[in-house]
This record gives sequence, C-alpha cells and structure tokens, in this order.
Amino acid sequence: MTSAPAAGDPLRVARDRRELAGEAFRVVRECLRSALERREEASLVLAGGSTPLGLYQRLGRGGGSLEWERIRLFWSDERCVEPGDRASNFGAVREALLSKLGRRPAGVHRILGELSAAAAAESYESELRRHLGRAPSFDLVILGIGADGHTASLFPGGPELESPRLVAPSRSPQPPVERVTLTLTAINAARAVLFLVSGAGKRQVLRRLRPPAPDLSLPAARVRPLGAAPVWIVDREAAGEAALARG
Ligand code: 6PG
Repeated sequence: MTSAPAAGDPLRVARDRRELAGEAFRVVRECLRSALERREEASLVLAGGSTPLGLYQRLGRGGGSLEWERIRLFWSDERCVEPGDRASNFGAVREALLSKLGRRPAGVHRILGELSAAAAAESYESELRRHLGRAPSFDLVILGIGADGHTASLFPGGPELESPRLVAPSRSPQPPVERVTLTLTAINAARAVLFLVSGAGKRQVLRRLRPPAPDLSLPAARVRPLGAAPVWIVDREAAGEAALARG
C-alpha cells in the first residue's frame, strides 16, 4: 500500500484487489467505530458493482468485532430488478456479507428494485427520512466509479445530477437501464466518502478525476462531502504510474 505524494483527496494505491479490500476493510471499521463512539447508531451506504465485493466478504467474515446491532445499512443505488436477480446490488451484498455475518444489523434498508424507478425513489427517500431524520447525513458512503465517470447511478448529463431530492430515478447507458440512486444532495451531506476503484479500464477516468483539475462534467468529480475530502483506495492497475505522477 502506497499513498500518492500529491495534495488533494487522499489516494491509497493497493497492489491488487485483495489488498484493496483489506485496506477498505480497515477504513470502514475505523469509520464505523468512530461514529459509534459519538452516536447510538451508525449509517453505512454500500456501493454496487464488483470492486467492493472483496470488502463485503471481509466484513462478512471478519466484521465480528463491529457492533452490527447499532449499524444501519443503506445502498447508494439499485437496478430496477427483483432482489434475487443477479444484477441486484442488494442481492450481491446479501450473498457476500449478510449471509455470512451471523449477526443482525440495526437495519438493512434496501432500495425496492422490484418497483418502478419513480416509486422506488419515492419510497427510499421516505425510508431515509424515517430512520435518519429530515436531513440525513450518512457516516460513510462507499462508492465506485464507471469508466464514463459515473458514480452510484449518477450518469454524465443525467437530470438526476441537479436533483434537490435525496433519491432519484435515473437511466443507465448500460443495462439494466432503469435505476434508482442517491443524489449528490444526499451523498455530499455525508460525513465521509470512500471511493474504491480497480482495473486498468478506470485509469483514464481516474486521471480526469484527480487533482490538479478534476473534470466537473464527471459525476464522480462532484462528490464533495461536507465532512471531509473523499478517501480513494485504488489498485495499481487503475492508478497507473501517470495517474500517480499527477497526484
Ligand atoms: C452499480 C454501481 C456503480 C459501480 C461502478 C463501478 O450499480 O453498478 O453503483 O456505480 O460502483 O459502475 O463498478 P465496478 O466496481 O464493477 O467497476
């Protein structure tokens, strides 16, 4: 594990996805423990996609020292599919984490992908406000990025990028097209954000997202949580030497 020498959001480079998962596990555990020292419950938002799966498996196997009974789980986004569908972000977490944890979190708040995107977004916004109050501030939001600079299911040029709501329907250029996503309003109210990025396919977009001049046309570049700059954990394939040189 190495850290980039440059300024800007902290970037940690892992040798491979296994080391990325290990470092992410340490960051998540520390963040949740710190939150539970200050508040009765902690709120953790889980990303979709494949990169975080190693982390979720680590949490399922080794997260026993965490007080899961005081931790509420939420999702950054969901595809409009049944929870048992192989494309479901909830289904991936159920398989990698929940089925192995052996303990019951304070809440498992999945996005109802079986509904229409609009109905699921309405429902999830109410769920967030019911459990986190009128102005939810998640303790930690885990996010990935796509090669097009999307994050969660916030896609370049999408109207959801300007939404004042906490949750919005969106449309993905890749199937499943119908999505539901936390908005920048919800994400940027978080106390902490952790980006996990892996694979050579992300090298180009990572370069466009890093200092000195992040490309603000990319949704991931507009993630600027009030609490602190996002933490980035990337593998060596995504980092590439050039990306590191630019900071
Ligand atoms: C989704 C995710 C999406 C994902 C990125 C990265 O529902 O697909 O929320 O934003 O995090 O596309 O995916 P990978 O980790 O598989 O590269």
